[in-house]
Amino acid sequence: MYDYMIKVAINGYGTIGKRVADAVAAQKDMKVIGVSKTRPNMEGFVAQQRGYPLYIADISKKASFEKVGLKVAGSVEDMCQAADVIVDATPGDIGATNKPLYEKLKKKAIWQGGEEHEVAGFSFNSSCNYKDAIGRQFVRVVSCNTTGLCRIINEVDKEFGVTHVHAIMVRRGADPGVIKKGPIDATVLDPVTVPSHHGPDVLTVLPHVSITTMAMIVPTTMMHMHAIQITTKKPVTKEGVIALINRHPRLGLIKKSAGIKSTAEIKEFAMDLGRQRSDLFENCIFEDSIYANKNELCFFQAIHQEADVVVENIDAIRAMTGIEKDGATSVQMTNKALGLVTIQNNH
Ligand SMILES: NC(=O)c1ccc[n+]([C@@H]2O[C@H](COP(=O)([O-])OP(=O)(O)OC[C@H]3O[C@@H](n4cnc5c(N)ncnc54)[C@H](OP(=O)(O)O)[C@@H]3O)[C@@H](O)[C@H]2O)c1
Repeated sequence: MYDYMIKVAINGYGTIGKRVADAVAAQKDMKVIGVSKTRPNMEGFVAQQRGYPLYIADISKKASFEKVGLKVAGSVEDMCQAADVIVDATPGDIGATNKPLYEKLKKKAIWQGGEEHEVAGFSFNSSCNYKDAIGRQFVRVVSCNTTGLCRIINEVDKEFGVTHVHAIMVRRGADPGVIKKGPIDATVLDPVTVPSHHGPDVLTVLPHVSITTMAMIVPTTMMHMHAIQITTKKPVTKEGVIALINRHPRLGLIKKSAGIKSTAEIKEFAMDLGRQRSDLFENCIFEDSIYANKNELCFFQAIHQEADVVVENIDAIRAMTGIEKDGATSVQMTNKALGLVTIQNNH
């Protein structure tokens, strides 16, 4: 269908970067031209095995990579020079320091939610504002929590109108592979003050929504859990909410029949279904938790922090390059290439 393959560089091959690289490689209209790291370790070997050319931030460290058998294709600047779009998945706040390089090379770049909105000047969610990203040089894909919130709030708003959202985020302490972070035995208010940063972050995508968020961090690595209460303009029904979830390509429903009441069981289900890395690209909304009464809607949703933003990065690439002008088509292409069948269709 497309005669040109968009050349994508992934600057930062960690939790998000390695998933974005595999998702890019799975698409028919884009290819991975390189990934980058600062240290020679296990992820470098995975990149090499996948056939992704490996570039390094500090070229003076080339010998330390080659000593352990990792072939270095060049510097991060070389990689960026060869790309049409750079997906910056370096750790939070480091991404912003790469902006002068992208500007110098006149390249398109995507940052992640660990950076401030101002770095790109535009925050993205494919279900909410795909059209506004078309042709942009810089885009920021909002964080995992904000992505999960935007997807469902936008759909409820379209169907019933949203007067106010109150959301409580119970956040995972660290990603599964991160051994240096806690908490090990505490519930940490993040922050103590209200609102947490998530509410204002949702406003970078959905500026007209009224929202208050609170957040805490708990000792788990699997997923985040959101407790959400929405006051709607029109009376809301449980059937209506289930219908809008089922219609949306990235809203998943955990049905009662699955017997699931925890993040651990969702991840186990994803593993058993054979999903790569047990990734859940979709929101996981608990059907049984949906409570609709007059203008009040409440539910729990679990968000897989390592995965939900990955598919959004793929759509952002299409929007920025203008290769696909329709957001729904891009979402469909991305999902299809990754074999994503929303979780309710598996039970
Ligand atoms: N993890 C999540 O749950 C999550 C969810 C949504 C959004 N995000 C956001 O996504 C971004 C990336 O987070 P992450 O969790 O994927 O981080 P991560 O796992 O720590 O991975 C970061 C990667 O960047 C590389 N890197 C570090 N400094 C670099 C530099 N100066 N130049 C090039 N590469 C560099 C690291 O390589 P070395 O290991 O070789 O140093 C590593 O491969 C952040 O903005 C974060 O807030 C994360």
